[in-house]
Amino acid sequence: MKQLVLPFLCYLVVLINAQLHLEYDGWLNIELYHALDIHEPQKFTLRGNVTITSVNTGSATVSQESLTAHDRNKFRQLAEENRLYRMEAHVLREDGSRSRFLTSSKACALAKSQLTDVLWVSLDHAGSVIGITQSVNHGNFGDCRDLTNRDIDVLDEFNTDVYVKAIENAPVPDTASFIQKLEREREARERGETKDSRGFFAKYWMYIVPVVILVLISGATNPEGQR
Ligand SMILES: *[C@@H]1O[C@H](CO)[C@@H](O)[C@H](O)[C@H]1NC(C)=O
Repeated sequence: MKQLVLPFLCYLVVLINAQLHLEYDGWLNIELYHALDIHEPQKFTLRGNVTITSVNTGSATVSQESLTAHDRNKFRQLAEENRLYRMEAHVLREDGSRSRFLTSSKACALAKSQLTDVLWVSLDHAGSVIGITQSVNHGNFGDCRDLTNRDIDVLDEFNTDVYVKAIENAPVPDTASFIQKLEREREARERGETKDSRGFFAKYWMYIVPVVILVLISGATNPEGQR
């Protein structure tokens, strides 16, 4: 019996994993805008375009404007005052509508990384974008004291890597609903054990039932098991 159950469970795991792969392949157009002006935080200007040519392989082409002297000075001010560099990514849908994702990093960290950043594009099972997050290598160094003028004067082109990942949950830490979930679980525990086991069975019956059937079958065919 044990020899049967293990391969069966492995098979289940493979089945469940297979469901996580996207069945849909397609491409995505994303426009990147950034807010460089410290005095006009709502003013976003075009930074460039990202085309993800296959959401399954994650291959992407990136085409970005180089930083003009004017924009570099605005960026310098953000970095020197240790402000956030804010970026808005617009995902263009086929019907012409767009979904917007705001992401930010420390301006001085982006300056120290010489405008090298990574865009994480998160997709749900249907291939729709559910999050776009920019991350910067030097993001852990919080202070800009050793940032020199020369660091900023050389800034010119953005170097952006794009990673596409299909995930189950939004990348945004949803603390409120997590706490609610913990709270609900605690209440359920306080109401008693019965509620919990019913929840477990209701959730996993499709995995439990085949195992039980297997046990019954092997019990029926195994004369020792009947005794
Ligand atoms: C990005 O796309 C917009 C319109 O879709 C275009 O006007 C702009 O020139 C493009 N920019 C780059 C850097 O490719």
